[in-house]
Amino acid sequence: MITQFILLAAGAGTRMRSNMPKVLQPLAGKPLLGHLLHTINNLPFEKSCHLITGHQSERVEAYANDQALSFSVNPIYQAEQLGTGHAVQQALPSLPDEGVSVILYADVPLVSAKTLSRLIEDAKDSLCLLTQVIENPTGYGRIIREKGHAVGIIEEKDATDDQRMIREVNTGMMAVNNAVLKSLLPKLQNNNQQQEYYLTDLIALAHREALPVYTLDVDNPMEAQGVNDKRQLASLERAYQLNFANQLLMQGVTVIDPERFDCRGTMTVGRDVSIDVNCIFEGEVAIGEGVSIASHCVIGSSNHKTVIGDGVEIKPYSIIESGVIEANCVIGPFARIRPNTHLHEKVKVGNFVEVKKSEIHAGAKVNHLTYIGDATIGSNANIGAGTITCNYDGVNKSKTVIGDNAFIGSNSSLVAPVEVKSGAVVGAGSTITRNVEDDQLAIARGKQRNIDNWPKPSKKS
Ligand code: UD1
Ligand code: CA
Repeated sequence: MITQFILLAAGAGTRMRSNMPKVLQPLAGKPLLGHLLHTINNLPFEKSCHLITGHQSERVEAYANDQALSFSVNPIYQAEQLGTGHAVQQALPSLPDEGVSVILYADVPLVSAKTLSRLIEDAKDSLCLLTQVIENPTGYGRIIREKGHAVGIIEEKDATDDQRMIREVNTGMMAVNNAVLKSLLPKLQNNNQQQEYYLTDLIALAHREALPVYTLDVDNPMEAQGVNDKRQLASLERAYQLNFANQLLMQGVTVIDPERFDCRGTMTVGRDVSIDVNCIFEGEVAIGEGVSIASHCVIGSSNHKTVIGDGVEIKPYSIIESGVIEANCVIGPFARIRPNTHLHEKVKVGNFVEVKKSEIHAGAKVNHLTYIGDATIGSNANIGAGTITCNYDGVNKSKTVIGDNAFIGSNSSLVAPVEVKSGAVVGAGSTITRNVEDDQLAIARGKQRNIDNWPKPSKKS
């Protein structure tokens, strides 16, 4: 039996006050909708997904279609947003008569695969609702119980003062037997404050027809946290990040302050790694063993892969946009490594150095105030302070090749395409426009003149 998922994503998200549809707002670097799609994707059984869209439906559908998923996403357009119940009604013709449908609100993004599995199991022949007891239930639908059984949900706007005191709330998620859904859903009415067809009225309908309503409590509060505005988005972001940092701590990673940690992508981390405060990890980041990352570093970027080898030391305020940093390199402080860079073992890239699309071989040093772009640098070469590879003539990019053990004196410009071969030395302050052969010394700068008895300027009266 194929499990059906119905994702509600048609709402305008007015409270976000944004031109971007709510379900595409990023949480931990990924659209809200993406979290749900990827969680569903991880469930180990066959499924099919119906995506209810309305506001900016093209954008929402395009995003869903762009994801690499093991199941098909069937977009269903809800022309008018007449409520969550009305939204699910749009999916009814697409549902089989047997099996279970799981209804999810795309603005409640962090439900876990485990919770979804339990929800499906507990729906049995009827329905199971995911609920949660929270400190401040404002804004959520409240669960009405009689003799312990859930008999209805009352929305905040329709609730009496007494009902508003109830702290058990509706998370919005439920698993419903398809036959039950097909029989109850057409019976929804819109006689409430908002004149909407509330999905939540399904509970009272089920109760009236003597169908059992099962409930399940969420394990982790953030799984049930909904996002209606930017404050809730920020608060869920912090909950997500704290949870992520705690998982790293449990794995043995030293996260100096789990409240000042952000991962907007995925991370694998080896043993004995230390991460100081205010670092941001983006995209796909793989960190080896014994790596130390000082404060205020940005490691990785979205849609890119970054690999940090064993024993690498990254000093404060460094940015590594992507690439491969092999074992025992030392980066920063204030270094910027741009995409398509490969640093071999024990390379040093120091302060105010930018490296772009370059390969630097083992043991080479680029310690201060330098731009290395479209270059290959040989092993153990030493690049002096203020060296610039002039890779761009305004039209084309050209390559600079520096051989093993070469020494580039400070404040030199290497005008590409150009090659400084193995063991060659470039005198400080040179502008190199022609190749330098193995072991040659190249000096290309104005000759120094020392002048005696020169007319010193005197103060004008
Ligand atoms: C809803 C629940 C509330 C629950 C809360 C949990 C109802 C009536 N209320 O309230 O009990 O505590 O979620 O977060 O269900 N949508 C559509 N089409 C529509 C209306 C909404 O697709 O016609 C989508 C929205 O895009 C959103 C989701 O359904 O993703 C929920 O709608 P929203 O308006 O945010 O409901 P809440 O007021 O949060
Ligand atoms: Ca909501």
